[in-house]
Amino acid sequence: MKKILLISTMLISLLVAAQNPQSLKSGNSGMNTFISNLMKKMTLEEKIGQLNLLTPGWGIPTGSVVSTDVEKKIKEGKVGGLFGVIGVVKIKQAQKLAVEQSRLKIPLIFGSDVIHGYKTTVPIPLGLSASWDMKLIEHSAREAAIEATADGLCWTFSPMVDIARDPRWGRIAEGAGEDPYLGAQIAKAMVKGYQGDDLSKNNTLMACVKHFALYGAAEAGRDYNTTDMSRVRMYNEYLPPYKAAVEAGAGSVMSSFNEIDGIPATGNKWLLTDLLRKQWGFKGFVVSDYTSVNEMTNHGMGDLQTVSALALNAGLNMDMVGEGFLNTLKKSLGEGKVTQKQIDDACRRILEAKYKLGLFDDPYRYIDESRTLQEVLTTQRRKEAREIAAHTFVLLKNNNQSLPLKKSGTIALIGPLANDKNNMLGTWAVSGDAQMSIPVLEGMKNVGGSSVNILYAKGANLSDDTLFAKKVNVFGTRIDIDKRSPDEMLKEALETADKSDIIVAVVGEASEMSGEAASRTEITIPESQKKLIRALAKTGKPLVLVVMTGRPLALTEENELAASILVTWHAGMEAGNAVADVLFGNYNPSGKLSATFPRNLGQVPIYYNHKNTGRPSAPNSPKFQSNYLDVPNSPLFPFGYGLSYTSFSYSDFSIDKKEMKPGEKITASVTVTNDGNYDGEETVQLYIRDVVGSITRPLKELKGFQKIYLQKGESRKITFTIGIDDLKFYNYNLQWVAEPGEFEIMVGANSDNVNKENFRLVPGK
Ligand code: BGC
Repeated sequence: MKKILLISTMLISLLVAAQNPQSLKSGNSGMNTFISNLMKKMTLEEKIGQLNLLTPGWGIPTGSVVSTDVEKKIKEGKVGGLFGVIGVVKIKQAQKLAVEQSRLKIPLIFGSDVIHGYKTTVPIPLGLSASWDMKLIEHSAREAAIEATADGLCWTFSPMVDIARDPRWGRIAEGAGEDPYLGAQIAKAMVKGYQGDDLSKNNTLMACVKHFALYGAAEAGRDYNTTDMSRVRMYNEYLPPYKAAVEAGAGSVMSSFNEIDGIPATGNKWLLTDLLRKQWGFKGFVVSDYTSVNEMTNHGMGDLQTVSALALNAGLNMDMVGEGFLNTLKKSLGEGKVTQKQIDDACRRILEAKYKLGLFDDPYRYIDESRTLQEVLTTQRRKEAREIAAHTFVLLKNNNQSLPLKKSGTIALIGPLANDKNNMLGTWAVSGDAQMSIPVLEGMKNVGGSSVNILYAKGANLSDDTLFAKKVNVFGTRIDIDKRSPDEMLKEALETADKSDIIVAVVGEASEMSGEAASRTEITIPESQKKLIRALAKTGKPLVLVVMTGRPLALTEENELAASILVTWHAGMEAGNAVADVLFGNYNPSGKLSATFPRNLGQVPIYYNHKNTGRPSAPNSPKFQSNYLDVPNSPLFPFGYGLSYTSFSYSDFSIDKKEMKPGEKITASVTVTNDGNYDGEETVQLYIRDVVGSITRPLKELKGFQKIYLQKGESRKITFTIGIDDLKFYNYNLQWVAEPGEFEIMVGANSDNVNKENFRLVPGK
């Protein structure tokens, strides 16, 4: 009897402890005390349980394992968090199990891949990055956070900040492209947008920076493949966006699938402890990618017990899906392969995240059905999704001012993506409903109104290859192979074109032709569509191509055939309206490429911030230079490139001094004039070259940009201030230094079109 009484008193005090932590406002010491008290009450199994992240499989599993017995495990205190649970009702059910039926009532953390919007889907991240608009990107992350938290979530597996220079890699769609500086600015903006300034608010989401690290450098652009690179390259070219996200306060980091220096990231102590914690001072928790602990067995690092111990020793705190921690850490502790302190540290990190999110104060903080009704998929947010989308489109070509379209006459709207709902959202839109998206045909009718006649024909399949289509269609039909033959479709398209004044062909990639496990060895528009484009070009009518894609494509042939090319990425649920807004000139396109568009695949990897080599490109020299025999080294469309319906000219470029001492600043200025016929936006870009260095330095590196709006006829003087930090790089010994000597400052409209001035950095105090 006495024993029962004691136990029940203990239980009540535990309940109280778990549910009434010190106020969130009491800062770290309050958090530390609360967690220490809680951990004193936890068994080893419960501590290990906190390190376990499961998915009941209600979302989209991206690996072979889907968790079983989730309910039972939650009640037994064997689960720290869940993902892939969509909707406030299910999240509430799961949270109830944890806080009402587990011994210590520790709340679960609920994550999801909120990658580009939640239910209101905005353009894929590669598209967002092409806006070069940090306010817009931060705002879109903020809106996604409001919407996702209104549906019960408190953690997002975003931003994905992997630098990618190889468009074969399908996941280039999920990041900000090829540049470390732009990538770092975007990483910061997204973390700020998701997390706001107080994680415990019920409308902020904890960010998870991924995939740490170097995942975008997979050999041959093949997903999950090996990466191998020098530390100097890592530090200067690949790590800056992760570091920026950590400095912006991201609450969590996800370790990547790939290996680094021969050790998979998930078990790499140098990466997860020395670099992330010791050098960068990261205070949050590290979660593995989907079964990336277990996959270390395939990498050749040992059995599940060995790799789980390796991961914990390396600094991993939470194991996604694979349950290696859950099932082996106790044994490893007994055998001295891991320490109690390591388990405690990892557990503490997870509990800290829950504390910061306010879950101990109120485990239902993010669960409020009235918010779900009011804040998910609002008209206002859809309106903004449309505006955001329009800002991401990149006009690559516009001969004879074929665009904007007139709101009169007859337009032939042709192509497999012209009247399609299934491919508008893009990859990683796990909570979006494709059927709610606006196809281009509908958008064109909405915006064009009754004075313009729009005729539609599909014209071609996205691809005629049934095996390819089967692989792309794993999550539902994306490539819909028509019952009609390609010839019949083409005939209809040509008849439609014949009745029209201008042709708009909406072509490109299905949404699942990019994203995870969607690498391609061709980066062209599929042959079925190329045939259509060639036939349409032959009609002699002006041909406008709207290209939907999740990666840079080689558009060499299309560039010869079409009068205009507008790249719209996968633009989200308002795609059709946004495309029509831009085509009809209601919005003047302002996007600029964040990743180089090559002439052909043979140029890959291709990026603007490359080195000079000892035999720099000399196109007119027949031999013994770093050239190709068949194509120039230059890309088809360089990084930073994008046109507008208006034109901008640059004049009066100057710098205010020719010598700079450390501690001083240089000001570069240029006058930009809108000398075309429309109001519009321009992104003015600043590049710097360190001409002589102790290690070889890139030909140019982006160091600043300003997106400005100019009315037609308007001029503005733009200034950039350059300080010593803008001249620094990681030297051979990985010290962050600026070396005295000659520098070039370049300002212009894209990485290949710049004005240049030189100055010297001179030693001084
Ligand atoms: C992906 C991650 C994602 C995770 C959870 C993995 O396959 O690589 O980016 O966050 O699944 O859905």
